[in-house]
Amino acid sequence: MAPFDLVVIGTGPGGYVCAVRASQLGMKVAVVEKNATLGGTCLNVGCMPSKALLHASEMFEEAGHSFAKMGVSVSSPKLDLPAMMNFKQQGIDGNVKGVEFLMKKNKVDVLKGTGKILGTGKVEVSADGKSQLIETRNIVIATGSDIARLKGIEIDEKRIVSSTGALSLDKVPGKLLIVGAGVIGLELGSVWKRLGAEVVVVEFLDRILPGMDGEIAKQFQRILEKQGFAFKLGAKVTAVDTSGKALKATIEPAAGGAAETLEADVVLVCIGRVPYTEGLGLKEAGVALDARGRVQIDPHFATSLKGVYAIGDVVAGPMLAHKAEDEAVAVAEIIAGQAGHVNYDVIPGVVYTTPEVSSVGKTEEELKQAGVAYTVGKFPFTANGRSKVNQTTDGFVKILADAKTDRVLGVHIIGIEAGEMIHEACVLMEFGGSAEDLARTCHAHPTRSEAVKEAALAVGKRAIHM
Ligand code: FAD
Ligand code: NAI
Repeated sequence: MAPFDLVVIGTGPGGYVCAVRASQLGMKVAVVEKNATLGGTCLNVGCMPSKALLHASEMFEEAGHSFAKMGVSVSSPKLDLPAMMNFKQQGIDGNVKGVEFLMKKNKVDVLKGTGKILGTGKVEVSADGKSQLIETRNIVIATGSDIARLKGIEIDEKRIVSSTGALSLDKVPGKLLIVGAGVIGLELGSVWKRLGAEVVVVEFLDRILPGMDGEIAKQFQRILEKQGFAFKLGAKVTAVDTSGKALKATIEPAAGGAAETLEADVVLVCIGRVPYTEGLGLKEAGVALDARGRVQIDPHFATSLKGVYAIGDVVAGPMLAHKAEDEAVAVAEIIAGQAGHVNYDVIPGVVYTTPEVSSVGKTEEELKQAGVAYTVGKFPFTANGRSKVNQTTDGFVKILADAKTDRVLGVHIIGIEAGEMIHEACVLMEFGGSAEDLARTCHAHPTRSEAVKEAALAVGKRAIHM
């Protein structure tokens, strides 16, 4: 077989996007995938199935609780969980087929099997006890991440589950105990809460959503508590007794002290994810890892082995699909001799709960720590006309701007559709825009996005509707 220009190992958002871009740039490309389906964590057991269940469970919740007040009278909705899971699976299948189509359209060879790097330009692909040697000018590692585990607590994906099991429970747990108040805990907690579970979240730190702006996290916690979430902050689960009908979790204060026991039907462990490099042969091939087991790369995504690059969850940075995709495009362009680049200062983050939480750029805590003088503009959805008529007024927009130059440094939103609204802030920040630029940009009325404009006006202390 004539050598490839590029072999990409892994077909998640990092891998398949890299393959498409490299093909567009004229390279002969192959992808290697060990799973039965393409698309990686994101399409199979991550972003997409979780969003399908978030959407379906939100509709269930709305039908039960919000329709009547709008004068839409329906009989109490009944949950058909197998049908909801089928809806989720159709969404997964549709997206996976989409990636297969993209590989065909871009003439990317799909090699099914486990990829192992034997050295510069050499990848061994093994499946069903057979292996073949693939020669290539360049290799991109896009093998993603795996769930982080808690010592002594074994995940069986039935009663003690990771996100993967929590996306496929066959009945609604009476009591769901979630370990970790991060993105997965709050999203999947929302799904099962809406479907009827009692949800308790145990979090090691004294706050939820570490990394998000503190004021946003505090208000979001209050909103979730109003929805029925219970939080045990500053606490850790140290053991789960599986011997009885109900699980018995031992919970200890993080700072030490007396333990308590909580019963649950299902325990979801979601305490982060770890880079996945198993079976890749990195050590033998001479590809260096950092202290946290991530593939070490230089600013051009090059590893310590010539001709081998790495992107996505397996390298440093936020473990987000769109970060992996942007790195995928950049590395393909670099390999093609162009100037691929990712601006890590403008990577949005979204929590797809109701309301949503979105964020881009610096938090107030980060600016304080860096000693940057800043001004704050805030605007609540209670003062936004569209939110008022829809009676969905939870949340606010917060804009942080440089005190001297007015340049926008961070935008944080809690609110319905916050995940869509954040992108005007991303574009503004990519262009180095100011709060004044945003405040003087005409926004359609009546939209929730007017709250973003009003928050920008509030930076200059001249919001109109407040
Ligand atoms: P992955 O998607 O993990 O893909 C890696 C692929 O490599 C896998 O298919 C794996 O089988 C394959 N592979 C590994 N080793 C080998 C080998 N040796 N040979 C061949 N193939 C191999 N991010 C968001 O931005 N938005 C979200 O809403 C979101 N929701 C999420 C919800 C959940 C429940 C989870 C778990 C994650 C979520 N994420 C979300 C994170 C997102 O899934 C990851 O950031 C993203 O998938 C990373 O892409 P990747 O290409 O680096 O790796
Ligand atoms: P996370 O890093 O978001 O949250 C983990 C939480 O667990 C943290 O709050 C941490 O303090 C806590 N924790 C750690 N050890 C603990 C312990 N022993 N006891 C109690 N709490 C403990 O990780 P999560 O939620 O598992 O998600 C993994 C990754 O997947 C995230 O980093 C995120 O990037 C990605 N993801 C993104 C989504 C999105 O963009 N909407 C949705 C879901 C996942």
